Amino acid sequence: MEKPIVRFIDSSAGARSGHAARRALVAALWLTTSALACAARPAEPAESPSSAPIEVPSLSAKYAPLFPIGAAVDSGSIHTLEALLVRHFNSITTENEMKFESLEPTEGVFDYSTADPMVALAKSHAMKVRGHTLVWHRQTPAWVFQDASGGKAPPELLLSRLRSHIQNVVSHFKGQVYAWDVVNEAILDDGRYRTAEEPEADQRSPWHGILGTSYIAEAFKAAHAADPDAKLFYNEYRNYIPAKRQAVYEMLKQLLADGVPVHGVGLQCHLNIEPSLDPNHHGFHQTVAELEQSIQLYSSLGLEVQVTELDLSVYSPGVKYTPEQFVTLETFSDEMQARQAARYAEFFALFRKHAKVISGVTFWGIADDNTWLSEFSSGRKDFPLLFDVKHEPKKAFYSVMDF
Ligand code: XIL
Repeated sequence: MEKPIVRFIDSSAGARSGHAARRALVAALWLTTSALACAARPAEPAESPSSAPIEVPSLSAKYAPLFPIGAAVDSGSIHTLEALLVRHFNSITTENEMKFESLEPTEGVFDYSTADPMVALAKSHAMKVRGHTLVWHRQTPAWVFQDASGGKAPPELLLSRLRSHIQNVVSHFKGQVYAWDVVNEAILDDGRYRTAEEPEADQRSPWHGILGTSYIAEAFKAAHAADPDAKLFYNEYRNYIPAKRQAVYEMLKQLLADGVPVHGVGLQCHLNIEPSLDPNHHGFHQTVAELEQSIQLYSSLGLEVQVTELDLSVYSPGVKYTPEQFVTLETFSDEMQARQAARYAEFFALFRKHAKVISGVTFWGIADDNTWLSEFSSGRKDFPLLFDVKHEPKKAFYSVMDF
């Protein structure tokens, strides 16, 4: 896992703008002030009721009239967090275990030994399962894009591998996985298709390099042929950016016009505690109003919308933090928890408002002791979920339950 983690850091570093230094200074001052304030007064008692976490009302039961509440789990957390999972969620997504590199590490050799027990466990608790993800530029083995001599695979070969992978995987989980993220992240923030020529290596899509945009429609067709009952999603991040929102919309509109079986759009929703103040940073658009426009635009095509990877980082977008500024369990103050809770509340109010078209909301994790946002090799920890490292409900939990 080390490689992808490092790549993620590089990519976000690359996205930082020239205003980052000023924002970093502001954040440093803010963090220092709040850390001092925190140190100066004794810890306040937690606001949550004193009852054991397991006795708080169930999140998924509360939302049952509106939409299922899901969580991404890995083969470890599905056990270590099983109590919370079963009580508060009624859907799962496997965090890495259904990605191309996990299921077909070697050509034609499919390995379901990790994913199958996860699906079985979900089934034993009557939970839904979302499949993530069939076609992506990351976490896909190199052989997929190579010919026998290690050169670039010709289009026919890549297309037959795409079809074979999807056919095998989707048939394997037929009747068990109700929805698939068929294609993940094909469009860039500026609205262009992701190509094989992007400046940063980890941003390049060899799918596009070899097949052009045709891989997208082909993937949906193959998935539909393998399981005509599965709901097929196009999954994307930062859909709140106007140019990206529009480009995704145009692409979906064309796919539908061409008769391609697409049923929904996944909004990843990796959010932050506040939008960026810098109009040139993508985080500037991370607002409820912008996301609402995306939900409205996509659903105007008759598509379902799902929130597929929700978390809410305690860091501000575009700010470069030094290790001394990293938030820790000690500096994740009540004030910061309250701000996180308020922002979660705003977005959940939006999701509830559009419950007619939103057919699921999935968190990318369950509790703060297991989140991809803490996987940075820099050691930076994050606290983006509704339950804390001790698996107790945070202020954010109560804020999304308050309606
Ligand atoms: C992440 C996983 O959470 C990490 O464990 C892994 O190292 C990298 O991938 N968008 C997606 C997910 O669509 O598949 C990513 O998951 C997070 C960003």
